[in-house]
Amino acid sequence: MNTQQLTDTARAMVADDKGILAMDESTPTCDKRFAKLGIPKNAETRRIYRGMIVSTPGLGESISGAILYDETIRQQTEDGSSFVKALTDAGIIPGIKVDAGAKDLAAHPGEKITEGLDGLRARLAKYVEIGARFAKWRAVISIGDGIPSRGCIEANAQGLARYAALSQEAGLVPIVEPEVLMDGDHTLERCYEVTEESLHTVFDQLYRQRVMLEGMILKPNMVLPGLQCPHQNSVDEVADATIACFLRAVPAAVPGVTFLSGGQSSELASARLNAMNVKFKSQVPWELSFSFARAIQQPAMGIWGGDSANKEAAQKSLYHRAKCNRDARRGEYNAAMEEA
Ligand code: 13P
Repeated sequence: MNTQQLTDTARAMVADDKGILAMDESTPTCDKRFAKLGIPKNAETRRIYRGMIVSTPGLGESISGAILYDETIRQQTEDGSSFVKALTDAGIIPGIKVDAGAKDLAAHPGEKITEGLDGLRARLAKYVEIGARFAKWRAVISIGDGIPSRGCIEANAQGLARYAALSQEAGLVPIVEPEVLMDGDHTLERCYEVTEESLHTVFDQLYRQRVMLEGMILKPNMVLPGLQCPHQNSVDEVADATIACFLRAVPAAVPGVTFLSGGQSSELASARLNAMNVKFKSQVPWELSFSFARAIQQPAMGIWGGDSANKEAAQKSLYHRAKCNRDARRGEYNAAMEEA
């Protein structure tokens, strides 16, 4: 393991107020989002869409890294260059989702376990050959009646830690993503408890599996009330709860916290990230950044709608959302930017 290289890559992923663009939807997830907008679901449409993203002019001003999916990392833009090359030329570090998705956890109704450890060492070596420099693995924790269980939290934490150790062995920076889902009517306080317990368990497992914290990135949820909770907290309350929770559970050696958006609107995701940076940037040991998929892509996907005539407008929207989030990292985002 080249510890210096891992540390340098992890730092570069959160440097200069830039953030990560998640464009690693699995084929079924991408097709589901296309279907909602009436966009044809096939490999060529997915290639055209992802090609449009990676060739967005100026994207590298706000984006440090992009997470690709197995299909995408093997695809090419219109002019025949691989997506990996197009990203690298734009100053964006290419990464790859390596988990095999969340499946039902046996004997735990309503809970999931992320699969993908079998054969992972060989797959990681292949991705390094193709040009990836970091990896991502997502575990999901649901809040509901009597859940999450300890069994679910521990099994997922161990999966994340074993994946992270294998990634570092291969020279890839692991993005460790334990996502407490927003679905449900739970309160912000309940999300805080579950997020704190999950993070403690994840970092305990990372320690046991000898993962080098300086060479990884944490991709967590923000501490939020459930989408169906009747009381929706203010932006400042979300920022305060999230940082209080992380100060207790995330070691200072981790270089960056890059939030997922998880179904928040694009504007709220930017506003909440902004509030965290306004209030806490100078007080926390990690960079507070973003690794959004929906909160960056969704408006652009709607504008594009599968029609090449809309490509430029969609790219402008991608550029705008990426820039809003870079501004949020600086604590300089405000709602007026959305009207421009
Ligand atoms: P969202 O920002 O849409 O939650 O996606 C982030 C991600 O990479 C999920 O694994």
